[in-house]
Amino acid sequence: MKTIHTIRRSTEILADVRERGAKIALVPTMGNLHEGHLSLVRHARTIADYVVASIFVNPLQFGPNEDLDSYPRTLAADTEALLAENTDLLFAPSAKEMYPAGTGSQTEVKVPGISAILCGESRPTHFAGVTTVVCKLLNIIRPDVSVFGLKDFQQLTIIRMMVDDLLLPGEIVGCPIVREPTGLAMSSRNNYLDKKESNIAPKLNQSIRDARSALESGDRNFAEIEKEGTSALEKAGFVPDYFSIRNARTLETAIVNDNELIILAAAYLGKTRLIDNLQVDPSTNP
Ligand code: PAJ
Repeated sequence: MKTIHTIRRSTEILADVRERGAKIALVPTMGNLHEGHLSLVRHARTIADYVVASIFVNPLQFGPNEDLDSYPRTLAADTEALLAENTDLLFAPSAKEMYPAGTGSQTEVKVPGISAILCGESRPTHFAGVTTVVCKLLNIIRPDVSVFGLKDFQQLTIIRMMVDDLLLPGEIVGCPIVREPTGLAMSSRNNYLDKKESNIAPKLNQSIRDARSALESGDRNFAEIEKEGTSALEKAGFVPDYFSIRNARTLETAIVNDNELIILAAAYLGKTRLIDNLQVDPSTNP
């Protein structure tokens, strides 16, 4: 595996790879890799000949009071983990490489509407930061396929829309959420949890599973199910941000006739913001 830090080097290396006719996959990450990230790399390995992982803690997607400075940076361990997964290329640019004129004067790519709901309501600049950096990464690497996790379902939906709208290169593939044995979705932010919070955290997934059971048994009182989810989170010690049943394609508020539903939730545990989601099996529709 080669580790490179510049766009120029990636262009040189990938020109050779493309000339060989190899299919290129990209797995964009912010590092501090866990099994969730590595599952994406493993999937990429099965669908492409040449796997590129990127590690870049993107300042543009962090709000002013968020955890940009404390976000875990573990490049040495990440390099080992990627090596063990047979990654071909690690692209780990600096902020200066990605935003040479600083983030303030960077052209931004925004997907309107959907970027302002759910996580976008409490993180108003977040998704523009994500779409801008992913757009740049797609233009730098020009992959045949890019792999993202369903863990960040809204992010994946927004990226698909951007790629469709702007005709950006490559197919977008989503991979299942990797969880701890407790059901907690793996996340770099789980590192922030103290012991007491770690015991509470799996209840986020539990509350979503309870809502899914209700929906799969035919209950269509969405408002009531959302209310129960929110209060279960409060009782467990979370400060809920949202607990919402949505159309799984558009992420608009669900209506009774929707046949593809998803439950999404975000909640604070102390200072840590956790998110999770589950899709409802459409074959259980009443
Ligand atoms: P990051 O949080 O590092 O996640 C990188 C990728 O790993 C994303 O596609 C995310 O959905 C996926 N992922 C994280 N935890 C997962 C889990 N438990 N199971 C499955 N997949 C998981 O998401 C970002 O970085 C950034 O916003 C990025 C897209 C890289 C743009 O900066």
